Amino acid sequence: MNNELKHLAIIMDGNGRWAKEKGLARTKGHERGAEVIRDITEYCSNHPSIQTLTLYAFSTENWKRPKLEVDFLMRLLDKYLANELETYHKHNVRFETIGDISKFSASLQKRIELTKEATKNHTNIAQILALNYGSRDEITRAVNKVLEANLAITEENISKMLDTPYSDIDLLIRTSGEQRLSNFLLWQASYSEFYFTATYWPDFTPHELDDIIAKFYDRDRTFGGLS
Ligand code: IPE
Ligand code: IPE
Ligand code: MG
Repeated sequence: MNNELKHLAIIMDGNGRWAKEKGLARTKGHERGAEVIRDITEYCSNHPSIQTLTLYAFSTENWKRPKLEVDFLMRLLDKYLANELETYHKHNVRFETIGDISKFSASLQKRIELTKEATKNHTNIAQILALNYGSRDEITRAVNKVLEANLAITEENISKMLDTPYSDIDLLIRTSGEQRLSNFLLWQASYSEFYFTATYWPDFTPHELDDIIAKFYDRDRTFGGLS
């Protein structure tokens, strides 16, 4: 076991199909999916090497969905953060976000800020929710910040201006069988290992995550060099 897993990222996909297959409204899939976030966060907080868990929750493209679904997701996020404060405290988890939350309602932005503030000294792991996140948007904003600061356009300076202190993704998982990035972490996943599972996010478990991590340890990561 040579690989070290510090930063895990997950594209939580398949909520709608999970619900549809059960004859339920898509919103039920989102509700169940929010509960899975808690289980997976708890697993990561007990893992010996994971420091950061980044979860794709709402993309810059998800605004294209019906207004009713978008509104539901916004309310669900607000409720999730209010309920989860206890979990963040219990497992010493720092809550952070990436993405442009200025497009969210004032009350939701306040909830996000309050949750960040309340958990900012927690040191076990960081749970980063990607909210109104698009990698192209993030990189574009970062380059503009480099220009505004009158700095040279270098990889280092762009990395510094990304939404959170830059950290390479070691393992990126997408649930639901789709095999694409959907504008997630293009910069940070340059040398990430990818794992795609057919499991819908609401059925994803710490047990399956544990199996995937075991496979990650067997991968040969050469970063352009030789093994
Ligand atoms: C992921 O599940 C959650 C969000 C994108 C908010 P989906 O809602 O994309 O579920 P499917 O892909 O339609 O099944
Ligand atoms: C990606 O899933 C975004 C999130 C999981 C939040 P989507 O379901 O929106 O992506 P596409 O449409 O399948 O590419
Ligand atoms: Mg989807």
